[in-house]
Amino acid sequence: MSEEKTVVNFTIDGQKVSVPKGTTVYKACTDLGLDIPIFCYQDRMPPFGACRVCLVEVEKMPKLQTSCTLVATEGMVVHTQSGRAEKGREEILELLLINHPLDCPICDKGGECPLQDQAYKFGPGKSHFYEEKRHFKKPIFLGPVLTLDRERCIVCARCTRFGDLVAGDHALELLDRGYRSEVGTPHGGPAESKFIGNTIEICPVGALTSTVYRFRARPWDNKHIPSTCTLCPVGCSLIFDERDGEILRTRSCENKNVNDMWLCDKGWFGYEFAASDKRLLKPLIRRNGKLEKASWEEALSLIASKIKAFKPNGKLAGWGGNPLTTEENSLFQKLMREVCGVDHVDHRIGTPIFTPKEEVLPPGMEMSIGECENLTHVYLLGLDLTEEFPVIWLRLKQAINKGAKVTFVGHYAPEIAPYMSEVILHPPGQELENIKKLSFEEGGAIFVGSQYLRNRNRGAILSHLSSSPLNLNIMEGSGNSMGARLAGMYPGESGFDALKVLETASKTGWDFLYVAGANPALKFPSKLWSEARRKTSFLVVQDIFMTETADLADVVLPTLSYVEKRGTFINIEGRLQPLLRGKELLEGVKTDGEIFIGLAEQFNISLFSKENFLNEKKKRTALPEIKPQDEQVELAATFSRALFDKGVRMRHNKHLLQMAKKPTLRLHPAEGEKRGLKMGDRVLVNGLVLGTLELDGIVSEGTIVLPLGFPELPMEELGPNLMNGLPITLEKVHP
Ligand code: SF4
Ligand code: SF4
Ligand code: FES
Repeated sequence: MSEEKTVVNFTIDGQKVSVPKGTTVYKACTDLGLDIPIFCYQDRMPPFGACRVCLVEVEKMPKLQTSCTLVATEGMVVHTQSGRAEKGREEILELLLINHPLDCPICDKGGECPLQDQAYKFGPGKSHFYEEKRHFKKPIFLGPVLTLDRERCIVCARCTRFGDLVAGDHALELLDRGYRSEVGTPHGGPAESKFIGNTIEICPVGALTSTVYRFRARPWDNKHIPSTCTLCPVGCSLIFDERDGEILRTRSCENKNVNDMWLCDKGWFGYEFAASDKRLLKPLIRRNGKLEKASWEEALSLIASKIKAFKPNGKLAGWGGNPLTTEENSLFQKLMREVCGVDHVDHRIGTPIFTPKEEVLPPGMEMSIGECENLTHVYLLGLDLTEEFPVIWLRLKQAINKGAKVTFVGHYAPEIAPYMSEVILHPPGQELENIKKLSFEEGGAIFVGSQYLRNRNRGAILSHLSSSPLNLNIMEGSGNSMGARLAGMYPGESGFDALKVLETASKTGWDFLYVAGANPALKFPSKLWSEARRKTSFLVVQDIFMTETADLADVVLPTLSYVEKRGTFINIEGRLQPLLRGKELLEGVKTDGEIFIGLAEQFNISLFSKENFLNEKKKRTALPEIKPQDEQVELAATFSRALFDKGVRMRHNKHLLQMAKKPTLRLHPAEGEKRGLKMGDRVLVNGLVLGTLELDGIVSEGTIVLPLGFPELPMEELGPNLMNGLPITLEKVHP
C-alpha cells in the first residue's frame, strides 16, 4: 500500500511550490512573500470566508476563489496577479467602501488601518457609488473600555469570532442580517469579557476602538517600548506606546511561549494608574503626628539612624516586594540581611503563609504556558483560571478547540465551566477524596489553584498529586511573587515570617518594619494590625500611592511603578521576562532599587552583585503521604480572587475600576433555604463582616464563596492567615 502523501505540489504565479497537505493557498502565497489582502481572516482562528477580499484566480475553476479558505491541492495552478484576480479584489474593496465613511483623518485606526492600507494598495482608486452612506448615532459604548463606531464596521466577524473561538466568552455578536448587520452584545448591555482589548487590536478597521486611547495620538507619534505586564504571575509580553513622557496605551507583543498575541484587559488597560494625579511625589516624614513633605536626604538619614539604633535588638523586618522587579527584591532582602542583620523578610502579604513543611511544594509550573495548547487532558483542581491567570485560559482554550478534555474539581464552578467535560463540586475539606477518584490520563497536565492551595489540607493534596506522572502546575501568587521569592524575599532559617512578626509585634512590640509595595493594613484583621502597628516603634512604607498602611507610617517613600523601571520579572513558569522603562521617570521619585541602594550607602555597604535568580528546576519525586485533617463543618469558606478587584493600583485605574463587579457572598440556594436567607439579604459573616448574599447554583453545598481584594468587604477580618475550610456562621441583619 502506498504511503499517504503528506506534501502537495502546485504552482503560484508560475513558481512551483510544495506545502504540507492541508495548507491554504493564502498561507502558501504569504510564505512566498506575496501580498494578498485579508480582512476576515486572522491566523489564530480558522478561515471564515466572509469578506471575499483575498481573491485569486485558479485555473480550471470558473469563479475567483477566496485564498484564505481554499486548501491547496496537487497540480493546482494559482494566479494572484492576473487581471481577473486584481479586478476581483478591486471590486470587493469598492463594495466594502460603499458604506465605510471617509473619516480616516479623525479615526483612531488611521495610520495603522488594514482597510486604509489595502484600499490604497489594492483598491480601484475611485468609486461608482455616490449615494448617501449609512449613518448611525456615534459612537456607542460597549463597556468602560470599548467604543463602537458602527458605520465603520465591515462585518468581518473577527471580533465576534474571537469571543466564540479564542476567549470563549461570546462577548460580542452580529445583530440583524445583511445590510442591517451591526456588532453588539447578546444582552444589549456592556460587553462581558476579560479579554475585550484583543478585539480592538484585531478589528481591521476603526469600528472598535479603545475608550482610553481614543483621540490621543497617531501611531507615528508614539515610541514603542517592549516590556512585560506585571499585574499577574503570567507576565505577558507587551508594548508600551509612549508619547511626551506618558503611556498612552499598551499593546500585546507576540510571544509564543507565554501570551501568544493576546493580553487580558488588565494588561491592555491596567497601566492607567501610573498617570494618576494621586501619585506620591515627595518623601513624607511624620512630625508632631502629621506626615509632612521632606527631602530624600532627610528621609533616608532618618531611616538609617533608626536602623542603627534598632539593629542590636534584631527586631527589624521587611515585608512586600510582589510589585517590585526581581533585582529590587534582591536588593530589599540584602538591605534587611546585610545592613539590618535580620532574616525576617517576607513577600507574602495578602497571600497565604505556610512554613516550608506545611507548604510541601512551592508555586510554579512544570511545563511552559505555550505547551498548554497541545494538551489532550487537563485537570483543573480548585483553580479559577480566568480570574487568576487569565491569559493561560486563552492558551488552554486552543487545546479545547482541538478536542482536549478538561476536568474541573473544586468548591465552585468557574465561569469557563461550560467548556469542561466534567465539573465535580464539593465543599472544602473533601478535596482528597474527590481527586483520589480521578484517573490522570497521559498527555495531560494538572493545574492546582488557590481553592486547594490556600487550604489546611494543602500538604495532603500535594503529597497525593506528587506521585502523578503528569506535569504538576502549582498556580499560586500575585504579581512578581515568583521573582520576589527566588530573589530571597522569603524568611531564612532564623527568620520570622510575616505572621510571626505580626504576632510578636502585637504582643511584645517590634522596633522597625519596612513595607515596600504591600498594604498589610488591609491584609490582616484590623484589630491585630492596629495593635501591632501601635507597638511598632518605626514604620517605613514605600509605595506609589498613599495606602491605608502609608497613612500610619513614620516615613513614606514615593517610588516608581512597573511602567517606569527596568529589570526582570519571573513568571509562574519561572521564565525571566524583561521590563523596560515605558515612560519618563517622575521628577524627584526614585525606583525601589535606588532607595535600597541609597540606604545601604549610608552604611558604606554596596548591595550590588551579579546574580542568577533562576533555580534549576528539580525533578519532582513522590512525597510521603500526608494525612488530611478531616474536620467536617456545616458551612465552610472558600476565598476567591477577582481579576478586576480594588487593590491599591486598580483603585487608581479609572476605566478598569468600572469593570470590578460588586462583591457578594455566594451561597448555594439550598443552603440559603436551610437558613431562611434569600438573594440580596444582608448577612454578618462570623459576626465580623457585613455583606450581601447571592444565591448561586454554581457553588457546592456546604460552601460559601468569600471574595478577597475589595476594601468594602474586608474578609481579612476573619483571620490573619485565611484558609479555605474556615467554619462560617451567617446572621441575617435586618435593615
Ligand atoms: S467591529 Fe471590526 S472586527 Fe468586528 S465585525 Fe466590524 S470590522 Fe470586523
Ligand atoms: S494575564 Fe496577567 S500578565 Fe497577562 S496581561 Fe493579564 S494581568 Fe497582565
Ligand atoms: S480574508 Fe479571505 S474571505 Fe476574508
